[in-house]
Amino acid sequence: MNKLFYGDNLTIIRKMAAESVGLIYLDPPFNSNRSYNLLYKNTTGLPIPEQIEAFCDTWEYDYEKSQMAYQIPDIMRQYGIENDVVQFWYYLTLALKNTNQKLLAYLVYMTIRLIEMHRILKYGGSIYLHCDPTASHYLKVIMDSIFGHSNFRNEIVWHYTGWNKKLHQKFESRHDIILFYAKGDNADNFMGFSIPWKNEDEYIRKRKQKVLVDEDGEKYVMSDAGGGKRIKRYLKDAMEYGSPVDDVWNIDKINNSSKEKLGYPTQKPLMLLERILKSSSKEGDIVFDPFCGCGTTVEAAIRNNRQWIGCDIAIHSIKLIQETRIKKYSLTEGKDYSIEGVPQSVEQAKYLFEQDPFQFQHWAIEKTGGFCSSKKTGDRGIDGKIYFEIERKLCGMVLSVKGGNIKPGDIRDLRGVLEREDSTEMAGFICLKKPTKAMLQEADVAGFYEYQGIKYPRIQILTIQDIFDGKKWYCPSVVKQVRKDMGQAYLAI
Ligand SMILES: C[S@@+](CC[C@H](N)C(=O)[O-])C[C@H]1O[C@@H](n2cnc3c(N)ncnc32)[C@H](O)[C@@H]1O
Repeated sequence: MNKLFYGDNLTIIRKMAAESVGLIYLDPPFNSNRSYNLLYKNTTGLPIPEQIEAFCDTWEYDYEKSQMAYQIPDIMRQYGIENDVVQFWYYLTLALKNTNQKLLAYLVYMTIRLIEMHRILKYGGSIYLHCDPTASHYLKVIMDSIFGHSNFRNEIVWHYTGWNKKLHQKFESRHDIILFYAKGDNADNFMGFSIPWKNEDEYIRKRKQKVLVDEDGEKYVMSDAGGGKRIKRYLKDAMEYGSPVDDVWNIDKINNSSKEKLGYPTQKPLMLLERILKSSSKEGDIVFDPFCGCGTTVEAAIRNNRQWIGCDIAIHSIKLIQETRIKKYSLTEGKDYSIEGVPQSVEQAKYLFEQDPFQFQHWAIEKTGGFCSSKKTGDRGIDGKIYFEIERKLCGMVLSVKGGNIKPGDIRDLRGVLEREDSTEMAGFICLKKPTKAMLQEADVAGFYEYQGIKYPRIQILTIQDIFDGKKWYCPSVVKQVRKDMGQAYLAI
């Protein structure tokens, strides 16, 4: 069954069976040291200051990563990776720890996932790792270690065009790198890819060969077959076969005028994914994209009758795929595909909180119609906001989410935030546990916000159960979020 997973791919891949997928395409964050944000505007046109973070592409060598770095040699040994390679990893870690910790953090993050991807890939299957020159040379060494140098197939250069500027110290960068490896002999699963000739004239012009005509009037050329041999090649066959592509792919990037554009930063073109899928998988094969973003791989798989599994850590990516790609092909949830990891009950929400508190917070805020704060730690006690319009001005309701234990002090803190923040009239508290009487009393102390003769409690509390029961914030007309002109924005931070 086709599947979309919401969550960290490491947790998900670890649960997948060995040798269960035929093709993996991954387009992870690139170590480019920036955050990609989706910008939102509201239904009124008044600007909403909040940005929702698509994903953060910055890397810290924190405690978790340093623990992983120590574990990797053991994991490598368990997976049968040669001792010399394990030693290499050990020295690389030491060197980078003293010189480039951000890069080390990125490589730890990638290595641990690539080891698991090797496990779930079928023998004869292929993996395409999309990266860019920032870290591609390091990733290639790691891919050699995990997949074996003899299983390296190509370094594909995806070249795209744009308006080149004259830079001061370097040339404009106009390509990404896609590292193509196989798991063992992939001859049965490699179809290659050919681009059809437009017509016979184009073929003749490009091949610069003399056209001959046989006794039946069929046109042909004599082609070099290697070793001094020449073979007869009929033009009608050449037309059907097309021109095989090499390892430099010229495909346009998604830009503002692309019809495919969904407004997701780093969206890749369908043409790129279709080429990969057609080259290295057959109809019915399972294609896996562990960093599926807005689902380009999913759509390529649907169009080409492959089974698919997509995974993303951002809830809006899952929502976007459902609302666009899946809707476009009228697929039915439960019959044609399933979604896993998006809580459907309080128990599942609790599970999400235990696995990933930040994702839980993100999910809960979006579920009540709010905008998330882009900072993982919350922005001075604010995890998100809801906006409403008062006389052509936007007013805010700050949101705070607590998945664990709750106490009256949390509500007192929220009162403090209300007093501190400008243009903020109300506050909402979302929690998994039922609020105590003392908490409700604390909320009552905040009083009411009055607008057009209606009184709204200044502090409101919703439990996750309330949210599943359909309860909403009680406030003046809430401004809904609309993706900005369905546009795409790159913000370098
Ligand atoms: C470069 S984008 C992929 C874009 C995608 N190829 C497309 O065409 O839309 C990387 C994606 O990986 C997701 N991501 C980052 N870390 C992740 C993780 N640990 N597990 C799953 N997804 C993750 C991000 O949310 C983001 O959507």
